[in-house]
Amino acid sequence: MILIIDFGSQYNQLIARRVREEKVFCRIIPPDTPVERIREAGPEGIILSGGPASIYEKNSPTMDPAVFDLGVPVLGICYGMQFMIHLLGGKVFSSKKREYGPASLIIEKTGELFEGVKENPTPCWMSHGDSIQSLPPGFETTARTVNTPVAAVENHEKKLYGLQFHPEVTHTPKGSTMLRNFIRKVCGAKPSWTMKNFAQEAVETISAQVPEGKVILGLSGGVDSSVTAALLHKALGNRLVPIFVDNGLLREGEAKRLKEVFRKNLHVPVRAVNAKKAFLDALSGVTDPEKKRKIIGRVFMEVFEAEAKKIEDVKFLAQGTLYPDIIESVSAFGGPTAVIKSHHNVGGLPRKMKLSLIEPLKFLFKDEVRKLGEELGLPGDVVWRQPFPGPGLAIRVIGEVTARRLSVLRKADAILMEEIRAAGYYKKLWQSFPVLLPIKSVGIMGDKRTYENIVAIRAVTSTDAMTADWARLPLKLLAVVSNRIINEVRGVNRVVYDISSKPPSTIEWE
Ligand code: XMP
Repeated sequence: MILIIDFGSQYNQLIARRVREEKVFCRIIPPDTPVERIREAGPEGIILSGGPASIYEKNSPTMDPAVFDLGVPVLGICYGMQFMIHLLGGKVFSSKKREYGPASLIIEKTGELFEGVKENPTPCWMSHGDSIQSLPPGFETTARTVNTPVAAVENHEKKLYGLQFHPEVTHTPKGSTMLRNFIRKVCGAKPSWTMKNFAQEAVETISAQVPEGKVILGLSGGVDSSVTAALLHKALGNRLVPIFVDNGLLREGEAKRLKEVFRKNLHVPVRAVNAKKAFLDALSGVTDPEKKRKIIGRVFMEVFEAEAKKIEDVKFLAQGTLYPDIIESVSAFGGPTAVIKSHHNVGGLPRKMKLSLIEPLKFLFKDEVRKLGEELGLPGDVVWRQPFPGPGLAIRVIGEVTARRLSVLRKADAILMEEIRAAGYYKKLWQSFPVLLPIKSVGIMGDKRTYENIVAIRAVTSTDAMTADWARLPLKLLAVVSNRIINEVRGVNRVVYDISSKPPSTIEWE
């Protein structure tokens, strides 16, 4: 296992991804983690991440120097390298000129880190203000660039390495080779982290964690809760009781498909609650987006709790929390921040019902969850489903949510999805969906003037939903979608395409 010390770099998750691509497990931990805990964790190697701070700044992140005496190989990246050099007695100077962008790395000593990097010089990505002036005893410079005389260092004997540039980004094309060299050659870590192993180990851990009693889970049909359900079912059999609250805000056919997949294919006894009326009644007359979200959260909680209370001997609540949701990071804007997402608004439930939480996916990234889902036998259409918001179609019906307006949107959605799939775009897009607008416009159908609804199509590419770009869908595809929606969905006479990126726009309209 590799530990990544988080000094606040925007690229931390990328470092973790690269390590896992080498089939080696890794975790990101805050710099104030006591060195004893690091020792207990028994890492094969430690990576010190980059970060926005300068080591000379007050309150710049720091960690116990004892980490360098553990006998564990260390790789410092950018700030992590400067931190290591400074702490071990070298000198870092604050240069007035920030170096940001592509540079040419001239390798002077191949050593273990640059083995297999044939081009010399090779491109690398720089992003730093401070530079290294002198090295601590035992260190030597192994690479430079025109502007940065010390771009890579090593202390071969102590297995301490430093890179001034970012090997984790794609702008350093040989960066993965360098990281692989560190992980495999320097640390000797074995490529044993596969989803098959993970599933086996997780089943053992869950069985030990839940020796008796039942586990409840809010099953939404999304990837995360579906994979959580499949994994828990494998470990606990029918002691897992998934509860599916049908809020009437799902896409066409989704509720049926969910019950079919779990009950028929996987033999998981899903408890389905039809709460469509409760949601629609509560949403009646409400147009404010924040109010809608709150109402949906509250009704979900009430329905879920009422159902959960009918089940005897419940000890745990399971959640499909993923790694990016829980990573504690040192933000550039002040102290450590813990980002914890409450899924399906059941955040308060564990305390209320005296339940313990179980989150078996909390160390996985989304693509790993998908692989795990495949490993557990979930069908492709569930594993590769695009993300879908908890409040469902309610936030895509702008204005009041009524059964009629939901039905219009659902039909438009079914057409869009069918065409996107047929054109081979479903997996290429982060999300694609229609939005029903609260204004009407004039049209002409046959010889008749119409005054009907407008549907906006939103399709975006993204890797994490933090930023997104509008998808350049082929015009032919857009033409078919528009044509079909206007012809086949009664009540729609105009289709528009959303060409806004995030930021400044958001993915969803509400
Ligand atoms: P935005 O619209 O903020 O969306 O760019 C980012 C991602 O989050 C999803 N989303 C939600 N998910 N409850 C959810 O569970 C919500 O209220 C909600 N709002 C947005 C959105 O679909 C996108 O993937």
